[in-house]
Amino acid sequence: MSFKDKIVIVTGSANGIGKSLVKTFLSEGSIVFSTDINFIDKKISDNHIQKKCDVTSEEQINKLIELILEQYQRIDIFCSNAGILSLGDEGTSNDLWKKNWEIHLMSHVYICRRILPQFKKQGFGHIIITSSAAGLLTHIDSVSYSVTKHASVAFAEWIAISNKEFGINVSVLCPQAVKTNMTVGREEDIATIDGMLEPDEVAKEVLKGIREKTFLILPHTQVLKYMKNKTESYDKWISGMQKLKEKIKKSK
Ligand SMILES: NC(=O)c1ccc[n+]([C@@H]2O[C@H](COP(=O)([O-])OP(=O)(O)OC[C@H]3O[C@@H](n4cnc5c(N)ncnc54)[C@H](O)[C@@H]3O)[C@@H](O)[C@H]2O)c1
Repeated sequence: MSFKDKIVIVTGSANGIGKSLVKTFLSEGSIVFSTDINFIDKKISDNHIQKKCDVTSEEQINKLIELILEQYQRIDIFCSNAGILSLGDEGTSNDLWKKNWEIHLMSHVYICRRILPQFKKQGFGHIIITSSAAGLLTHIDSVSYSVTKHASVAFAEWIAISNKEFGINVSVLCPQAVKTNMTVGREEDIATIDGMLEPDEVAKEVLKGIREKTFLILPHTQVLKYMKNKTESYDKWISGMQKLKEKIKKSK
């Protein structure tokens, strides 16, 4: 599969993984709409179009998609990637819970609500939802991130199951630690035990996943082993995580 002239949208792409996705698609000859709540980045080439878009606003998402369709009459690939990380337990404020929910679940719902009818009309289209290894396992220091990233995996599963017959492909990206603004100052974090990847390495894995039509994109391959451990014996997995949390608490 060639990415040349493919119409690609990436949300949350002013920084980190999103920015690397934009660069990688552009290097393959795609026409890329880079969107973020905060901009502005340097335009990389004529095929690089930057638009402000807050993914918690269904209106802004709809406007963005309409604008692209007016110009190109199709969209090939949508990377729903924007995300935030707020550390904390159940005492996390309601505002932060809602923000996590809006960004990590509802943004994907808004995007799919608008893009899936278009993909069905086209008879093709690939949506990539950026979740996290925390969406399959957990994030030991953030309950709001863990829960809402689980929700994004569940949403991606459902969308994948329900749309194959229309020629629509769905992937969910679940990395562990990646060197971005999100992990600055957390380089000693538990999630970094398996090593931190560069965002460019993650972007390459995403393009490979799209080529191979893989549902689960796991740039850190160990995550699959941890998933297997979790499903093989949930109690053992919970007890292992409890010990790990205790160990981290003592070391702080
Ligand atoms: N860095 C990691 O270790 C890691 C690991 C697993 C998953 N992820 C996920 O990868 C995705 C990208 O994160 P990153 O590591 O590149 O972090 P990052 O902070 O570098 O980039 C996130 C981008 O999302 C944007 N954003 C935040 N809220 C937004 C909103 N409402 N609307 C539009 N854009 C918004 C930010 O402005 C920022 O540019 C996130 O979904 C994150 O949860 C990151």
